[in-house]
Amino acid sequence: MKIIKARDYQEMSRRAANVISAQVIMKPNCVLGLATGSTPIGTYAELVERYQKGDLDFSGITTVNLDEYKGLTRDNDQSYYYFMNEHLFSKVNIDPKRTFLPDGTEPDSAKACEEYNRVIDSVGGVDLQLLGLGHNGHIGFNEPSDIFKARTHCVDLTETTVEANKRFFASIDEVPRQAYTMGIQTIMQAKKILIVVSGKDKAAIVKEAFFGAITPKVQASVLQLHSDVTLVADEAALSEII
Ligand code: GLP
Repeated sequence: MKIIKARDYQEMSRRAANVISAQVIMKPNCVLGLATGSTPIGTYAELVERYQKGDLDFSGITTVNLDEYKGLTRDNDQSYYYFMNEHLFSKVNIDPKRTFLPDGTEPDSAKACEEYNRVIDSVGGVDLQLLGLGHNGHIGFNEPSDIFKARTHCVDLTETTVEANKRFFASIDEVPRQAYTMGIQTIMQAKKILIVVSGKDKAAIVKEAFFGAITPKVQASVLQLHSDVTLVADEAALSEII
């Protein structure tokens, strides 16, 4: 694993945007795996700025997102579709027809997951997968478990995740209890992985996930087995390891 240490959130965002920009420049028709959460917001803002300056062209890019809340419509401002649209898709020249997320409005979980697996297969695999890191070590919405789930599945969110994500909702009762997420095998099949982490509150899980045992109890620990992972984190997030 390559570790890039940034001074602060802003530098982390710039460094992460450098990795994504390099990918887009070197392979203008690449498939980007994208993530939500508060951590990548600055990275997306950097990419938008570079696009506006004329330095990046997204016209040939395809994107597949990691996850989506089950039950939220696309126009719900807490849906991940809405998030992606607000932070990236509507601000760059990406073809909306080539941006994919699991369909949160599909009530039949088996159908929603099967359909998303079909999408992932049809785009031909992910060139660069961007990831955030949950406080419990989740990636996408792959929550701590006794197993690693291979492909897209419906997850019951843990109480700690519901608690962590309630800051985005009017009240905790509005936080969806289930989500559709890409599985660990799909994430591990990405050619390159970029993981962004910021803040002191993530320092302990960074140490556990990347320097501890490889276990489905800490789903991100599986990334230790991937041959091309770049961790871009600020000093606070790296404070327990460097
Ligand atoms: C969310 C998302 C993850 C994200 C994580 C961390 O629940 N499903 O993809 O990486 O939690 O979020 P944040 O960056 O806000 O800490």
